[in-house]
Amino acid sequence: MRLIRFLSEKASRSAGLIVDERVSKIRETVDFIRARCRQQPALGLILGSGLSACADLLTDRVIISFRDLPNFPQAKVAGHPGQLIIGNVEGIPSIALQGRVHFYEGFSISEAVFPIRVLGCLGIRQLIVTNAAGGVNTTFSSGDLMLISDHINFTGTNPLIGANIDEFGPRFPDMSEAYDSGMRKIALEAARLKNIPLREGVYIAFSGPNYETPAEIRMCRALGADAVGMSTVPEVIVARHMGIQVLGISCITNIAAGILPQRLSHSEVLDTAEQAQGKLRTLLQSIIGSLGVK
Ligand code: HPA
Repeated sequence: MRLIRFLSEKASRSAGLIVDERVSKIRETVDFIRARCRQQPALGLILGSGLSACADLLTDRVIISFRDLPNFPQAKVAGHPGQLIIGNVEGIPSIALQGRVHFYEGFSISEAVFPIRVLGCLGIRQLIVTNAAGGVNTTFSSGDLMLISDHINFTGTNPLIGANIDEFGPRFPDMSEAYDSGMRKIALEAARLKNIPLREGVYIAFSGPNYETPAEIRMCRALGADAVGMSTVPEVIVARHMGIQVLGISCITNIAAGILPQRLSHSEVLDTAEQAQGKLRTLLQSIIGSLGVK
């Protein structure tokens, strides 16, 4: 596993190093967080729409609102409290983001992944991403949990476009195993032990913000997707670029467009996610307890 050499912003400037503007901003945010919490997190947790309450898994917490974090993009979508929580889960130093920003909110794609790069520079080695997603696979039901086995980037963009940040990772990162097979095995075993049904499938990301048309959903199915959403993929790309191992879990909050004779709404998405987050919390706790990150 690749460890990112990370100097503080002050140290690298005084060493006379030329600093990429993007890295400089990340360092400023990292320095701000480190000044408030000495603990180095090993595990990152991204809690998607309606899934924020899973943050109560963290004990000994330090909470920082996104509003107070320098350079941090501010979430604007209902269902996202917008705070960073540092603490421990099952004895593992962890950091959770309650809420994320999306490309469709008008942020540049590199702003949207800024928080992940901050987590990477804080030292996380493993990342668990969660999201609310529409079920494309017709055997899925609303409220199901799906382990992401792979993804399709259908957002039309990529967070690694632009000059490569060599200290983070290579120009052409490998994505053969975007979602770590060892972590997935642990997740499946944790689900079995806790008796929590866990589907498995491919997540496809659109930029949003509109939900898909029935024709787009038929296309998703033809492409091999099982769930559809508007997040996660850019985050996973930058996490993998930094050599962070990733696990992804989707909460199927609705059946995707055109399958049932009903319309989609954000309130249905939030309600279902809130109902499912108890079992997601139990599953996360069991997974994290078995991860063995230090
Ligand atoms: N489509 C896209 N994003 C989503 C959906 C959906 O059906 N449900 C939750 N997020």
